[in-house]
Amino acid sequence: MTPADGPPVDAAGRWPVDGDETRSANRSWWDGEAEDYYAEHGAFLGDSEFVWGPEGWTEGELDLLQVRDGMTVLEVGSGAAQCSRWLARHHDVRVVASDLSMGMLRTARRIEAAGAAGADGAAPAGAGPTASALPLLQCDGLALPLADASVDRVFTAYGVMPFVADSGAVLAEAARVLRPGGRFVFSTSHPVRWAFPDDPGPNGLTATTSYFDHTPYVESAAGVVTYAEHHRTIGDLVRQVVSAGLVLVDLVEPEWPARNEQAWGGWSPLRGSLLPGTAIVVADRPR
Ligand SMILES: C[S@@+](CC[C@H](N)C(=O)[O-])C[C@H]1O[C@@H](n2cnc3c(N)ncnc32)[C@H](O)[C@@H]1O
Repeated sequence: MTPADGPPVDAAGRWPVDGDETRSANRSWWDGEAEDYYAEHGAFLGDSEFVWGPEGWTEGELDLLQVRDGMTVLEVGSGAAQCSRWLARHHDVRVVASDLSMGMLRTARRIEAAGAAGADGAAPAGAGPTASALPLLQCDGLALPLADASVDRVFTAYGVMPFVADSGAVLAEAARVLRPGGRFVFSTSHPVRWAFPDDPGPNGLTATTSYFDHTPYVESAAGVVTYAEHHRTIGDLVRQVVSAGLVLVDLVEPEWPARNEQAWGGWSPLRGSLLPGTAIVVADRPR
């Protein structure tokens, strides 16, 4: 099937979609999904914790960003911004959380307001007049409204990268806004997962699709694309890092920790004991 054929009327599967269709579908999808996503995953992610993926490893444990006091940090595809909130609480840094979806940013504000009010509506201990709201920015990770070389760190936990047709352009945009010596870290579904059914049980252990098939996963309703996720191989990601002028520092494939007995969609202890579920890419802008 070619893009000219258009999507099937109501379907979920693999067929080609372009960058504009991808952006418009994902913006609406995440707007509509924002509250449900955090109703389902909020307890695992925490309101103010920095979790890199369904394995449950945190930035506090991995220190991949190596954030230091005085830095300026940009989160892209922040969703409800719990990672930025964690950074702002644990470091003396300027943090801005950004997302394409206004629905996600509204959820971020709601969570923050609930935390500031406390469960009983009273301000929590320590929240004095100096407590300030986390800056939120609505923007596409492909077109950041920031000056060149203006931030020390850019990151995303499972945001942006699979939800754009051209993830190389996201890397180039991150490289543009990073200062020399700055760092971009992103986590995403491990590329090898695309060869397997998205099933947490035994059916998810047998490869049924070619790892090398780059056709995106798409959902549609009434002939309109409503969701699109794009696949890149590990080699593609490495080449995109290099093309963006960044230096690959690490490609972390976090193992499933024994402490985590919780499945998240197709990620589960069973599959996690046999296959990688997440890839975390750490890349620096040269000095
Ligand atoms: C799986 S959620 C992850 C949210 C958050 N990072 C977390 O860990 O909870 C993916 C996020 O990427 C955002 N997103 C998708 N496409 C984007 C784009 N082109 N630019 C910026 N954000 C985007 C979505 O709106 C959504 O908030």
